Amino acid sequence: MDSILVRPHFHPHIALIQLNRPKELNALNLQLMAQLRDALRQLDADDAVRAIVIAGNERAFAAGADIKEMANKSAIDMFLIDQFSTWDQIRKTKKPIIAAVSGFALGGGCELAMTCDMIIASETAVFGQPEIKLGIMPGAGGTQRLTRAIGKVKAMEMVLTGKYLTAREAEQSGLVNKVVPVELYLDEAIQLASDIAAMSPVAVRLAKESVNLAYDSLLNEGLHFERKNFYLCFASQDQLEGMAAFIEKRQPQFKGK
Ligand code: HXC
Repeated sequence: MDSILVRPHFHPHIALIQLNRPKELNALNLQLMAQLRDALRQLDADDAVRAIVIAGNERAFAAGADIKEMANKSAIDMFLIDQFSTWDQIRKTKKPIIAAVSGFALGGGCELAMTCDMIIASETAVFGQPEIKLGIMPGAGGTQRLTRAIGKVKAMEMVLTGKYLTAREAEQSGLVNKVVPVELYLDEAIQLASDIAAMSPVAVRLAKESVNLAYDSLLNEGLHFERKNFYLCFASQDQLEGMAAFIEKRQPQFKGK
């Protein structure tokens, strides 16, 4: 089964990509991320498409990177797999991308939503960076983008405790554009995409590039630093324990080594 469903002409000028691992709450394994990268590349090259919406399902946008896939990886394995080059390519998409988030947007799921240009959330959405509970830390931009979006003290609390933000809190904190009832979140995202699609595609592309320049100054350095520390977590016994505990459905016993 495909890990994503792509509908290039879902709505006039709007493509929809749906994350499609419902049983795993759309956990972002390497295959899904590679398919997402390829789909975005194709949609970016399709002149009929002017904006892209990425959605999960009502229960989950995505509950993070796939813990089962990472559980027994070493720091060097993670470094060599180099999954973040896929994320870097996603970031290079020229057309605007809107995340339509319902349910869980956790870990890599929250990071994927933040990698998009805008976020529409359903009232049931929750945002979090719970990696710390697994003995690791965010690795796909969470420490950088969340801090920019909601400020240092709130980001620090979320990243160090794994506490979630509700959709309303996320809206008040500036993490999401708008919160709507669950039955409307996809329509609202399509509407926002359509509003953008009515504008000059050239001006939209140049404007997106310009906003990103304001946002990305220092981001590259921050992402690089975060990535190295993320890999280093995989040199610890606590990472093995944290992920084993998740898979075995028990509380982890962290030893600090
Ligand atoms: C692999 C996952 C998963 C994940 C859920 N599942 N999240 N599998 N990776 N991130 C699987 C569960 O194992 C389970 O499979 C099924 O999806 C349903 O999940 P449940 O836990 O039974 O559902 P529920 O009790 O409703 O709890 C939902 C939840 C919980 C609160 C979202 O699943 C959870 O805490 N998930 C992990 C969230 C997390 O820590 N994310 C960060 C990952 S690290 P089975 O087979 O048991 O039915 C990360 C690093 C990013 O994202 C940096 C690199 C990109």
